[in-house]
Amino acid sequence: MVKLIDLPKFEDPRGNLSFIEENKHIPFKIERVYWIYDVPGGQVRGGHAFKQQQELIVALSGSFDVMVDDGKEQKIFSLNRSYYGLYIPAGMWRRMQNFSTNSLAVVLSSTPYNKSDYIRSYDEFLNYRKQYEK
Ligand code: TYD
Repeated sequence: MVKLIDLPKFEDPRGNLSFIEENKHIPFKIERVYWIYDVPGGQVRGGHAFKQQQELIVALSGSFDVMVDDGKEQKIFSLNRSYYGLYIPAGMWRRMQNFSTNSLAVVLSSTPYNKSDYIRSYDEFLNYRKQYEK
């Protein structure tokens, strides 16, 4: 289930600290970390689904919205703090948009990069979702 996950936060006059441990704060082993940055105003990233990949998306800096769609319902999550992240299980359509200037999105992924894990056609995605309804 898609959910916001609160991460540990150590508040300190010297500056705050948060962290993530695999299989503890998030329900998967981290196989890959990538980040999206220098996004020009109005641009959209993502806009596809993954068959296997689970992920946690954190706004390390700035803000952006993540639209998540299970084939029936769309939800939009606004991420704008570095001490929580959005967990997205496999099989969801998702899109990242409304990036603020200098925003930094980090994505922790449960899989190595694999082109064939992507579903890039929304119609194909709706078809793929049917297996979840059996
Ligand atoms: P892609 O996931 O298609 O971007 P978007 O978020 O816009 O859907 O990734 C863009 C390009 O980066 C793609 O050609 C493949 C490459 N890429 C990697 O090589 N490794 C990775 O881990 C990721 C996420 C992308």
